[in-house]
Amino acid sequence: MCGIIGYVGPRVAREVVVDGLRRMEYRGYDSAGVAVLDGGAIEFRKKAGKIANLDAELAISPLPDTGLGIGHTRWATHGGPTDDNAHPHVSANERVALIHNGIIENFASLRSELVAEGVVFRSQTDTEVAAQLLGREVSAGADLAEAMRTVCRRLEGAFTLVAIDADNAGRLVAARRNSPLVVGVGDGENFVASDVAAFIEFTRHAIELGQDEVVDVTADAITITDFFGEPAPSHPFEVTWDLSAAEKGGYDWFMRKEIYEQPKAVADTLLGRYAADGSLKLDELHIPASELRSIDKIIVVACGSAYYAGLVAKYAIEHWTRIACEVEIASEFRYRDPIIDGSTLVVTISQSGETADTLMAIRHAREQRAKVIAICNTNGATIPRESDAVIYTHAGPEIGVASTKGFLTQVAACYLLGLYLAQVRGTMFDDEIHAVMTELAATPPLIQQVLDGLGPIKELAARFVGTKSVLFLGRHVGYPVALEGALKLKEIAYLHAEGFPAGELKHGPIALVEGGVPIFVVVPPQGRDQLHDKVVSNIQEVRARGALTIVLAEAGDAEVEPYADVLFRLPKVSTLLQPLVATVPLQMFACELATLKGYDVDQPRNLAKSVTVE
Ligand code: M6R
Repeated sequence: MCGIIGYVGPRVAREVVVDGLRRMEYRGYDSAGVAVLDGGAIEFRKKAGKIANLDAELAISPLPDTGLGIGHTRWATHGGPTDDNAHPHVSANERVALIHNGIIENFASLRSELVAEGVVFRSQTDTEVAAQLLGREVSAGADLAEAMRTVCRRLEGAFTLVAIDADNAGRLVAARRNSPLVVGVGDGENFVASDVAAFIEFTRHAIELGQDEVVDVTADAITITDFFGEPAPSHPFEVTWDLSAAEKGGYDWFMRKEIYEQPKAVADTLLGRYAADGSLKLDELHIPASELRSIDKIIVVACGSAYYAGLVAKYAIEHWTRIACEVEIASEFRYRDPIIDGSTLVVTISQSGETADTLMAIRHAREQRAKVIAICNTNGATIPRESDAVIYTHAGPEIGVASTKGFLTQVAACYLLGLYLAQVRGTMFDDEIHAVMTELAATPPLIQQVLDGLGPIKELAARFVGTKSVLFLGRHVGYPVALEGALKLKEIAYLHAEGFPAGELKHGPIALVEGGVPIFVVVPPQGRDQLHDKVVSNIQEVRARGALTIVLAEAGDAEVEPYADVLFRLPKVSTLLQPLVATVPLQMFACELATLKGYDVDQPRNLAKSVTVE
């Protein structure tokens, strides 16, 4: 939530900053702003709304070409999305401009303290207290980095801060606690940003900034300390993708592009993780096999789509490993008193690696001696760094706010983990693991086959532009697929949508069924799954009550034909792997419907890609 960038070097900072903001707009789009330093004075422009509004403002009132600048794109927490509440915030004495991602929880008491000193606030934000405190410190003679450390020691909550000082040409200072920040290391120029996408055009060399650290950046030097000024170790890494991955490449939406990237994303996630004999090779899992053998319970914690991937994981992990597996929403997990000990394995799933609730859940679990394995898509993010081991999904950057390839690769990574645990614990025979792994490795072309058959989806979506409510039914792993299909519609088409386990229908939800209500049904494979016939009965039940049934069933399943108003054929895969193919038409349906309704698919209202605050 909120994208921040800072630049120092020979380029025109304003251009680097605004272009970087454009690539991070998925993090928040309530307002945007930029500040530069010009001849000892801070100049800034900021506007409510999307970056286009800032562009218009800069066209009317340009900023000078200077080599130091910061910029921010906001997801509003404290104070509405207005020009005044937009970042950067400039201290009353005009010494510093500051941008912030996160929530300063003790801002009210700090604000009272400053008001008592006569400071006049210009916004309703929590951020402005940090700007005013920093302004006060530097005008009292503190060095900018020292002032930042002093201020950070007083702040509670989650924050990434970046500041420039009117008396410090060619220098910016940043700090982080519980919110992301990476440093981009250039040649005679340096960057800080919430996400490497902001500076990938200029450098792939990056440094993760650790928890409670301050970085002091000039064009030629990067100095990292903790909040007390002690030197902190540097954690450099290389970004493995390039600028084209962070651009739309001819598609109308990032989401559509990312849907089409799924065969490759799943293939890349599986690549190198199994041998020719089908045995699993998870070299990155630095947890001794003896410890994995001693686990007696697995808890998967995640949010949103990642939580649904966890629900799929439960079916696979329990079936393959015979270890009890619970799945819990991270924001619930961390505030109850879960039964965890040294023999619990906590698996966290997060595309961004920065989701605040998931991060807090990890900390909660590790305090109680649980081992934590993260499944994550973002190199250098906080969640993998704070976990005992990580399985990276290799989806490349996911920019559309609605997760698509992120979800599918999370599901694939969960299968890898489940099979690996079965291998280590000996709960499956080698030939059984080989058979599943061979089938899993063969799914990318099947996902492509689904994509190639999506032509009629647009036509289908056109029938539902005026629809108020859509239901999704599934059983077993089809249930999380139903939930994911419903979430996509809520997020981007602003449509009431619910996913139900089909077996629960008669316990309440069937009362929602009336003439013409569209109901998507994910049908388990025919003949190989005991639930197939039960789901076919459920289709008949809702159709008898006037529902319009949109059925996803595998090729050759003739039993569903009489009851399907619309039928999508899925490639044949075994039940546990079906989410990899069944989710795709639901993603595309949401994308098409939102497009037809004229909504911004990549930046849906009220949402942000990375939820870095509670
Ligand atoms: O980055 P994460 O995977 O931790 O994000 C979790 C959720 O916020 C995320 O899946 C969200 O629900 C998506 N917008 C779903 O499309």
